[in-house]
Amino acid sequence: MLPPILANLRIPAMASPMFIVSGPDLVIAQCKAGIVGSFPALNAREKDGDPPLLDIWLTRIEEELDRHNQANPDRPAAPFAVNQIVHRSNARLERDIEICHKHRVPIWITSLGARPEVNAAAHDCGGIALHDVITNTFAKKAIEKGADGLIAVAAGAGGHAGQQSPFALIHEIREWFDGPLLLSGAISTGRAILAAQAMGADLAYIGSPFIATAEANAQAEYKQMIVDSGAEDIVNSSLFTGIHGNYLAPSIRNAGMDPAALSGADSSAMDFGGGAAKAKAWSQIWGSGQGIGAVRAVQPAAELVDRLAAEYAEAKQALAAL
Ligand SMILES: Cc1cc2nc3c(=O)[nH]c(=O)nc-3n(C[C@H](O)[C@H](O)[C@H](O)COP(=O)(O)O)c2cc1C
Repeated sequence: MLPPILANLRIPAMASPMFIVSGPDLVIAQCKAGIVGSFPALNAREKDGDPPLLDIWLTRIEEELDRHNQANPDRPAAPFAVNQIVHRSNARLERDIEICHKHRVPIWITSLGARPEVNAAAHDCGGIALHDVITNTFAKKAIEKGADGLIAVAAGAGGHAGQQSPFALIHEIREWFDGPLLLSGAISTGRAILAAQAMGADLAYIGSPFIATAEANAQAEYKQMIVDSGAEDIVNSSLFTGIHGNYLAPSIRNAGMDPAALSGADSSAMDFGGGAAKAKAWSQIWGSGQGIGAVRAVQPAAELVDRLAAEYAEAKQALAAL
């Protein structure tokens, strides 16, 4: 059974958090369109000495969604989620947890490390914690440490993708876990959302298609490259952040490198402390999952959700008719 906060969405989908790309404009548009919107806390970066931007973003999201709900009681906004990178190099984690606790953030997404105290903070303010995992072993550890639900990140996902087939990963987790389970990786059509449910997931977790939306914080060239590219244009490499991730080959070529001849990097290279090297890696080499062949135009996020909702309804009907 899904917790009430995830139960009444327009379609069974959550927009995933994306480094740099997801900010308040995108989250507000996703929630108003009826799917869970999300952003990484680390995207809210203020200048030294300024008040915490995360606090300002959360206040704005809450106020705008509140206004929407008062004006549209018949189609209220979906809830939002904040992503915490639980990695030792994230020096802001404690402060960001405090801010999210103060705002009573309803859905907490944790990545790159499961820590009981983050789950406890989510629970203490009435929220739920979802942890993203790439194997069944990590899934078991996350639930032991107090997560309420899991995001199975399968092969083909944007960002730090897993290596396993979604069929294998969802099956192994569903054998022992009956709580909230999301599937991540190359989901970009209504048909794929229905397929995720058929496989045993509760919700689809969708990232890359939202890069090509008006509200995404991405250069116009990045958005257009998502529209122009397909699965064959995605390469998997550990060179840029220290762990394996999926990237657009044309952006690697534009940066003067041969996507077919990339060497690997050691995972100790991973740094979420805001270092210049990290910022450079993600600003010039563009991440994407394999599902972007279904993205035909840069459009407002609401139109993308409309497409997914129409395709989902059509796919359900077509399958029922078989
Ligand atoms: C450009 C980009 C940046 C990402 N940054 C993050 C991040 O900061 N935190 C996180 O948990 N996941 C991040 N992800 C992974 C997504 O949350 C999600 O697992 C993935 O986008 C789903 O696959 P899809 O892109 O094929 O839909 C990122 C993905 C992309 C494409």
